[in-house]
Amino acid sequence: MAAERQAWWTPEPLRSQILTEYNVTLDAAACVQSRLVPQYLGLDHEDARYRDSLAPDVDWGQLAGPSGWTYLNPPYLPIPLLSGMLAKAAASAAAGSPVIGLVPASVTTRWFTTHITDAGARVRFVRGRVKFTGPFANGGSAPWGVALVEWPAG
Ligand SMILES: C[S@@+](CC[C@H](N)C(=O)[O-])C[C@H]1O[C@@H](n2cnc3c(N)ncnc32)[C@H](O)[C@@H]1O
Repeated sequence: MAAERQAWWTPEPLRSQILTEYNVTLDAAACVQSRLVPQYLGLDHEDARYRDSLAPDVDWGQLAGPSGWTYLNPPYLPIPLLSGMLAKAAASAAAGSPVIGLVPASVTTRWFTTHITDAGARVRFVRGRVKFTGPFANGGSAPWGVALVEWPAG
């Protein structure tokens, strides 16, 4: 349950904004209750093949389809999991399948620099503080900033 305890869900109106702006067909880190779209990857998936989005044989692009975007609001901890998901987002886009992410705006971290800045992703900082939802969010505004990160198809 440790992974779930830091699972803050994307709140409205960000959820609507993302679904309006992008043809999201896969949520790469979710649970059945929090997924943005019906197709998701997550620990509680009924099909064991779709429980780990970092599994080498889980191809985000193939699941998202030719004109689809993958959405990623990754777990923040442990850092190698967060970093691995961002790396897979950049790789998926480079291989032709775009990804839109909602990511902590921690611009000095190695994972942000490597997989977002150096990867040439488009960053839009979200104004103000975001009130994440879900059973583990505390109802208040998150004390960190977030950014919408777009990894376009390479
Ligand atoms: C920050 S929440 C995002 C939930 C939802 N996508 C949203 O934006 O509201 C991250 C989710 O990723 C899940 N998760 C953790 N490890 C994962 C993995 N290896 N593969 C896929 N999902 C994972 C967590 O259980 C959690 O549900």
